[in-house]
Amino acid sequence: MSKYPLKKLEIEEKITELINKMTLDEKIGQLNQLGPSPLGGFEISLKEKKQMLEAGRITKEEFEAEVSEMKWDDREDDIREGKIGSFLSIRDVKKVNRFQKIATEESRLGIPLLIGLDVVHGLRTIFPIPLAESCAWDDEVYEKSAEIAARETASMGINWTFAPMVDIARDARWGRIAEGAGEDTYLTSRFAAAKVRGFQGKDLSAPDRIVACAKHFAAYGAAEGGRDYNSANMSLQTLWDTYMPPFKAAVDAGVATIMGAFNDINGIPCTTNPYLYNEVLRNMWDYDGMVVSDSCAVSECLLHGNVETRADAAMETINAGLDMDMHSKCFIENLKDLVLAGKVSTETLDKAVRNVLRIKFAAGLFDHPFVDEALPEKVLLCKEHRAAALDAALKSIVLLKNNGVLPLSKKAKIAVIGELAESRSDMLGTWAAMGQAEDCVSLLDGLKNQGCEIIYERGFNVSGEFDGDAILKAIADADVVIAAMGETKDMSGEASSLADIGLHGRQNEAAKLIKAAGKPLVSVLFNGRPLAIEELNDTADAIVEAWHLGNEAGNAVTKVLFGDYNPTGRLTTTFPRHTGQCPLYYNHVPTGRPASAVQHSCKYYDIPVEPVFPFGFGLSYTEYDYSDLKVRVLGDKIIATVSVKNTGTVNGTETVQLYVRDKVASLVRPVKELKGFKKVELKAGEEKQVTIEVDKNTLGFYNAKMKYVVEPGSFTLWMGHDSSSSLCTEFTL
Ligand code: BGC
Repeated sequence: MSKYPLKKLEIEEKITELINKMTLDEKIGQLNQLGPSPLGGFEISLKEKKQMLEAGRITKEEFEAEVSEMKWDDREDDIREGKIGSFLSIRDVKKVNRFQKIATEESRLGIPLLIGLDVVHGLRTIFPIPLAESCAWDDEVYEKSAEIAARETASMGINWTFAPMVDIARDARWGRIAEGAGEDTYLTSRFAAAKVRGFQGKDLSAPDRIVACAKHFAAYGAAEGGRDYNSANMSLQTLWDTYMPPFKAAVDAGVATIMGAFNDINGIPCTTNPYLYNEVLRNMWDYDGMVVSDSCAVSECLLHGNVETRADAAMETINAGLDMDMHSKCFIENLKDLVLAGKVSTETLDKAVRNVLRIKFAAGLFDHPFVDEALPEKVLLCKEHRAAALDAALKSIVLLKNNGVLPLSKKAKIAVIGELAESRSDMLGTWAAMGQAEDCVSLLDGLKNQGCEIIYERGFNVSGEFDGDAILKAIADADVVIAAMGETKDMSGEASSLADIGLHGRQNEAAKLIKAAGKPLVSVLFNGRPLAIEELNDTADAIVEAWHLGNEAGNAVTKVLFGDYNPTGRLTTTFPRHTGQCPLYYNHVPTGRPASAVQHSCKYYDIPVEPVFPFGFGLSYTEYDYSDLKVRVLGDKIIATVSVKNTGTVNGTETVQLYVRDKVASLVRPVKELKGFKKVELKAGEEKQVTIEVDKNTLGFYNAKMKYVVEPGSFTLWMGHDSSSSLCTEFTL
């Protein structure tokens, strides 16, 4: 049960009153979510027109002329007639007010619209992509960026974001790994709760907060082969131990909406899965929010092949407990007949309508549907928001390798190579809402802002361009070379799964060329997923994982390069050495033949089984020593203490991580699992005792009978710098 229930007596009474006045059509309208649709100008789709342009079948001028004739149908008549409950993907405050005016003043019952947009890591002020930000291991950072995103979004009159994505992602091929907090269930659950707090605040009706949406329910990240939209086949134990807890954390934090996933789980598409909505959300978790389908997912059930007609898709979906149809129109076109034929009961329909209206009341839309159109200008990308974006970017950077070349001296002659160094747009990353490339600081901009004299030569890019002579010429006089490498923003995100997560194009060749010329090489990686960078790790002197960091990317990276900021970020995903290792994650089960030097063990014949960088990993400009680990069990708490010493010469912040293994259990258990962490500031030479408490109840799992149990017995407990740390002790429950 959520700590912030949406169900309140006075709201329920208002909803009842409203529902009693509604016609069948008006009720169904509330369950329909649509966006503007392109009208005229084309006899074939825009996408195909673009392909024709790329293939040279039409000229740029012809393409542009056609696009300029294109008009959007804003479906104003449908809003007026009460046929739309929620509108999505508009980014114009005047339009938002206009639509709300039509809905509240020109429709019969005056019900305001839920206006939704994917505000995933900022609206106009763009923060690091979620995967990057998760590397901050910092609830405050997670919450703050959502709070700012909410403030900007609300200023535009947009009242609903389709975020956070809380899918666990263990397969780096999956492009949407960029949108979540990585591979770990405990960390993602903390991330989920913090994001919900940030977007919604304590009072959902506050003018600077918006409705959040935990997505995609469920197990979307387990897409087979890492291929987006693919099937997820798994035991119920894995579903519950690994994929469900972040959603539960979001529900406990009061998330007002949840989005169903595109995939099927064990043969049932999530969209029509009564177990997920009626059983888990409503019966088991007492969830009082609203559930929306993913885009067109209702009609896509025909392609899944578990229904024959669009009417059946609508029937199965609403009967499963899903409330709102995003984009497919199956509800609006079929629910009336289904209700009249008794295939969908009035009770089921009313329940869904009630769930939608509850959000509208809780968000205060009936009281204040409009916004001040002058507000966005004051709020969007204001100084305070940019400062928070810089702070988040700094905390997201992970230093992966440093043989001493970093931090750089500001007096050094620096050559910068690689097209990504000049790219502003790629800093935005996937799902950048209203983010603008011109608001981003590229790596080159960042270096210039520091007053550095640099020689820049593009030299190579991620799609295969390579000019060895130009590279050699540019670096000839340099003391050190910075190579900007990785991925463009389109290479991760939705529908951007990769079969090869190595460095694309001739990037490794460029790195080797620079090293062969005898130059120290600092590789700065911009990417939206873990990359298989074993070769680069062998070549480069330093590797800075900079992800897609948003507006302040270049400033943040530069501060790290020069040591003005001592990096603190830690990986939340394992970095494989080869795509063939995917899915690769630290909390795997041991097997009966754990990987070892023995041939008949759980490993590969051709490459080592270990990753290049483990979960939790990240260097800084100082080092930490761990000693004196102690653990005691006190009632329902496991209390672990360790001494951590900063043994270097600069101040730093260490993220102390706590892992546990249930040594013998009725089902096989992971070799270790994160159960707690704490960030501690340590001055050079300083030593501190760090204590982390773990709730006994979090050490359980779903047993063979699908009962959550904490089995008595011995446990191993580690505290250390990352998931490969070896300082451990034992305790017994
Ligand atoms: C994505 C969702 C997103 C929706 C609306 C879908 O394709 O899977 O995550 O919220 O589009 O833009």
